[in-house]
Amino acid sequence: MSKTFYIETFGCQMNAHDSEKVIGTLERQGYAQVQDEADAGLIVYNTCSIRDKAEQKVFHRLNEYKRMQGEGKRFAVIGCVAQQEGEKIFEKAPYVSLVAGSASYRNLPQMLDRLEAGERRITGLDDRQTDETFETEFTARTNPHRGYITIIEGCDKFCAYCVVPYTRGKERSRTSASVLAEARRIVDEGYTEIQVLGQNVNSYRDPSGRMSFAELLTALGQMNGIRRVRFTTSHPRDFTRDIVEAMDATPTLCDHIHLPVQSGSTAVLQAMQREYTREWYLERMSWIHGAKRDISITSDMIVGFPGETDADFEQTITLLGAVRYDSVFAFKFSPRPNTPAVAMEDSIAEEVKTERLRILNERQREIQREHYGRHLNQVLECMVEGTNPARGQVVGRSSQNKTVNFVMQPGQPAPAVGSYLPVRITRTLPNSLVGEAEAGPVFVPEQRQRSPLVVLQ
Ligand code: 5AD
Ligand code: SF4
Repeated sequence: MSKTFYIETFGCQMNAHDSEKVIGTLERQGYAQVQDEADAGLIVYNTCSIRDKAEQKVFHRLNEYKRMQGEGKRFAVIGCVAQQEGEKIFEKAPYVSLVAGSASYRNLPQMLDRLEAGERRITGLDDRQTDETFETEFTARTNPHRGYITIIEGCDKFCAYCVVPYTRGKERSRTSASVLAEARRIVDEGYTEIQVLGQNVNSYRDPSGRMSFAELLTALGQMNGIRRVRFTTSHPRDFTRDIVEAMDATPTLCDHIHLPVQSGSTAVLQAMQREYTREWYLERMSWIHGAKRDISITSDMIVGFPGETDADFEQTITLLGAVRYDSVFAFKFSPRPNTPAVAMEDSIAEEVKTERLRILNERQREIQREHYGRHLNQVLECMVEGTNPARGQVVGRSSQNKTVNFVMQPGQPAPAVGSYLPVRITRTLPNSLVGEAEAGPVFVPEQRQRSPLVVLQ
């Protein structure tokens, strides 16, 4: 087998960052990444299983791989569908040699040795009980602006609709010392923005007992060289007031919280086993609305959960108005294997789900159109991500994670990617902002080596 690999990644940010660590591990073992699957000795497929018959899509893609079989070519299926389908993958796609879920990636070097030795049925399907996390210094950081750090893996929440506790295993955190050491390393490489990740990031519990989640955020925010710290995804159940207090006290903690509510109806939340009520959630919103800075709030929502009535759905719509989110990712409920909700009758007709999704998105768009208006004439610090030459615009990102398209002052040079500069907002749209660079201080971080970008679907 030639020591080249091609990797394809689906799913959430945790999965994308897992791929960065898998790429780093492969490179460490002497593999070189190629951008064309035809050139690869090893094809790695990092899968997601969150919604919509994901396993069918995976098997469909594996069928396409069948045609690519060739001298010495090997296939590895990893991630959430790998964990969920396990050895069934070998039955349906016998040309696959390695099937591994994320809780087994720490054993990847040994699995690769076995693959190279010619073994054709290698599994990493640890049960959900492992206490270990995937920690590696070999991470191919593919985002040139943001360094990701996973601080907590797995999930113990068992929401009735969700596959994650089954695919990613038990909740387990890294020590604060190890997280801070990784942050120090990547800041020394030149990153100025860090995003800490976890399926429930704020359920973080330092195994050494030294720091709470809010204290860890503060320590990251105070680290020399760090300009922005983000965290995602938070869970309302574990959302404590000290997180907002930490944000108040530490300006480098970005003005954004992603706090998925899933439904505005307490009855539906209960059926979902979310373990909070509408009022509990709204109380947390009031803490955030009461913060010293304008903190952007975003959410995920599910429509058409089994038993959701018109009145329940109406509660979700009124919640949109009460919170005034800056963005909502809304999904139709889809029954997933192994979850309690799969045994409930999927009682809401597809047309009703579609209609509820449409109403929700429409209402949210109205809210955003109006709510984004608050930024008009504000001066926001933007990090430059690139340029849009066709429009003569620079593309930047605000602390609230909003896209800002802006022009430079006449005669002002184009800013370096990764630099920060003040931008006055001249126009607001429902999903982005438009502005002009101000003649203020520009911060340009030191240059660093950059890895090629992973193409995310
Ligand atoms: N059906 C629909 N949406 C789901 N999500 C998770 N599981 C399901 C499911 N079975 C959504 C939730 C979660 C987001 C990542 O995906 O809103 O927050
Ligand atoms: Fe997909 Fe969930 Fe797995 Fe992320 S944790 S890859 S969203 S199934």
